[in-house]
Amino acid sequence: MRRILRNIRRRFAKPLPPPPPPPFRHEYKRTWEALAATEDSAKMAVSGYVDEGMYRSHGLKTKRLLEETVGLRPDDVILEIGAGVGRVGAVLAPECRRWIGADVSANMVGHIRRRLADLPNVEAVEINGYDLAPIPDASVDLVYCTVVFMHLEEWERYRYIREAFRVLRPGGRVLVDNVNALNDEGWAFFEQLLSFAPENRPPFVSKTSTPQELVNYLTRAGFAQIEQRQSELFIVVYGVKP
Ligand SMILES: C[S@@+](CC[C@H](N)C(=O)[O-])C[C@H]1O[C@@H](n2cnc3c(N)ncnc32)[C@H](O)[C@@H]1O
Repeated sequence: MRRILRNIRRRFAKPLPPPPPPPFRHEYKRTWEALAATEDSAKMAVSGYVDEGMYRSHGLKTKRLLEETVGLRPDDVILEIGAGVGRVGAVLAPECRRWIGADVSANMVGHIRRRLADLPNVEAVEINGYDLAPIPDASVDLVYCTVVFMHLEEWERYRYIREAFRVLRPGGRVLVDNVNALNDEGWAFFEQLLSFAPENRPPFVSKTSTPQELVNYLTRAGFAQIEQRQSELFIVVYGVKP
């Protein structure tokens, strides 16, 4: 009887639909939504580890970088583009007026809300992957974007810098970073990724920048007082909205 039923089922079962094609690089939402399905998978995608102690110490390291470059002030409204699970927000929020974490992934936004629920001045915002539409003009004092540009197309890198200019108040500061193709560590990183066969490269595979590329974007977007600093394999570029 069971065999007859199985045969009937086989005969009349609809064929499974083919799996959806993998996302293109510019389909940031689809890519990062899947990577951030659980808190642990999100943490692995953000940093390659889940250890909370490491999250805190690396968050403090980024805070120090911000202090030494663009400066941090207690009355700052701060916006992070591509905020992940709030690694940096967790250490910045207690020391600023408001910290806004914007991310393309609704799952990441959910992780931020849960993880930083004790901090009343934290806001997590889902964005479309291409602009900062939910953020009003001239409403922010500091915009930063760290460990994100390597996952973006060049156009989106520039879009976000233009958007940073829009949402910053005059005198507001911006900071962005990426792996620097022009230093030895950055070049070793680039060569390591040669091992992916072109057809197997994941859509989020890291792509480097040069300092000139990032300085060019800030200059063209209208920023002034543009400076740069090397931080291990990263180039960090920052400036001020006149
Ligand atoms: C490597 S993680 C870095 C997270 C965080 N900046 C940190 O340093 O802990 C990259 C983050 O960028 C987000 N992201 C990727 N593409 C994006 C896009 N087009 N717009 C906004 N966020 C994006 C991802 O969802 C992820 O949270």
